[in-house]
Amino acid sequence: MLLAVGFSVVGRAEDRVIVARQGGLEAKLEYCKTCHGLSAQGYRGYFPMPRLAGQQPQYMENQLRAFIERRRTNPIMANVAHVLSPSMVSALATHFRNLDPKPIGGAPRGSLALGKRIFEDGLPDANVPACAACHGSEGKGQNEIPRLAGQLYEYSVGQLTGWTKVRGQGSAVDTSAIMAPTAHNLTRSQIEAVAAYVSYLQ
Ligand code: HEC
Ligand code: HEC
Repeated sequence: MLLAVGFSVVGRAEDRVIVARQGGLEAKLEYCKTCHGLSAQGYRGYFPMPRLAGQQPQYMENQLRAFIERRRTNPIMANVAHVLSPSMVSALATHFRNLDPKPIGGAPRGSLALGKRIFEDGLPDANVPACAACHGSEGKGQNEIPRLAGQLYEYSVGQLTGWTKVRGQGSAVDTSAIMAPTAHNLTRSQIEAVAAYVSYLQ
């Protein structure tokens, strides 16, 4: 008990070490990898499992909380996330940052040039800003803006076509609102082009 009180005043970094020592973190990571791939590179299953490798910790943490708070609805991840303690959420979010497997590939290559143009310049006539403006010129993201580089094609297409059905649920406005108009203004074929392009970025 005394020990627990002592620990609670030390910072988050120590928190993570404690979680790791308890063996809980390793066990959880094994579990994550059964779906997200052995090096978290993503996996084409019955559902597309997104790449987590290299993902921004703040984005990861925000999404895990969104699943817990049901701001983002997904029955699988709601189940996975609702049992995680806040310190476990932080520890998991940080873990994937340094993984750097090759992109899983496999996206259609027919409209990569269009995808690159959308990513770099946007589509001014359709009110679509350059993705690079927020996600970075290499698609690595920052803070609460996710990495797109190497993301599974089918996953990105699914997210962009169903954006407001899945994200930003409930009454409070969250970070998903930043992407909503862009997702809305892209046509299906433009989504496919840009999702294919980013899936090959390393
Ligand atoms: C049973 C399979 C399964 C397991 C186990 C699982 N996930 Fe997931 N995860 C998914 C699926 C499917 C999605 C995509 C959800 C969607 O389409 O919105 C996802 C999405 C995510 C996302 C959102 C990614 C993004 O780019 O927005 C994060 C973060 C995540 N999972 C973290 C984890 C962590 C951490 C663990 C381990 C504690 C874990 N997942 C375990 C299936 C799983
Ligand atoms: C104004 C900044 C901004 C611009 C411009 C922008 N995004 Fe985003 N994007 C975000 C933010 C913030 C999120 C995280 C949303 C959340 O928290 O749910 C996001 C999330 C995403 C996701 C979900 C990633 C995942 O792992 O689930 C995809 C896919 C995406 N953006 C694609 C694009 C594409 C393609 C473009 C260009 C056509 C683009 N974005 C332009 C800010 C931006």
